[in-house]
Amino acid sequence: MIELSITSWAEAQSLVKPLRYQVFVIEQKVPEDMEWDEFDEIAWHAIVTADNQTIGTGRLIMHDRIAKIGRMAVQSSRRNQGIGKSILNELIQTAKEKGAQECLLHAQVHAIAFYAKEDFEPHGPIFDEAGIPHVEMRLIL
Ligand SMILES: CC(C)(COP(=O)(O)OP(=O)(O)OC[C@H]1O[C@@H](n2cnc3c(N)ncnc32)[C@H](O)[C@@H]1OP(=O)(O)O)[C@@H](O)C(=O)NCCC(=O)NCCS
Repeated sequence: MIELSITSWAEAQSLVKPLRYQVFVIEQKVPEDMEWDEFDEIAWHAIVTADNQTIGTGRLIMHDRIAKIGRMAVQSSRRNQGIGKSILNELIQTAKEKGAQECLLHAQVHAIAFYAKEDFEPHGPIFDEAGIPHVEMRLIL
């Protein structure tokens, strides 16, 4: 059974750290000291589990009326099954419930089409973050 929940870092960290390490540090070669930051503590974390295993995650950070989405990751063997889309929609819904007027994210260039399907629009130039090309994308709520 696949379950999706939103929770605090205190509850999420032991569940999401192994997946983020695998996807970002191992697969995408993000330096480990860039993967963990002070925003995890204040973020809301989406966790998708299947058979007691974490297979997807993402986080939401509220800055006044702007909600920043990030750290979207789905286990490689579970991609293209709609899990990322469910996480993104749950984070957007959470942002609305917390009073956000806009969602913002830094999309890896390969994932622009994934976010565009949920109506995010690219803004500004491509820039480097952790050695990976990104573009800012926004969704007015
Ligand atoms: C990006 C990521 C989270 C997407 O999760 P996913 O579960 O594979 O995505 P979904 O299956 O929910 O895809 C939803 C839709 O987006 C499309 N899509 C997914 N990834 C895509 C990509 N990289 N490029 C273009 N379209 C993509 C799917 O085809 C699907 O389209 P459909 O609704 O028309 O069928 C996942 O590929 C991942 O973890 N990648 C590695 C980490 C990463 O790059 N994170 C993003 C950082 S910005």
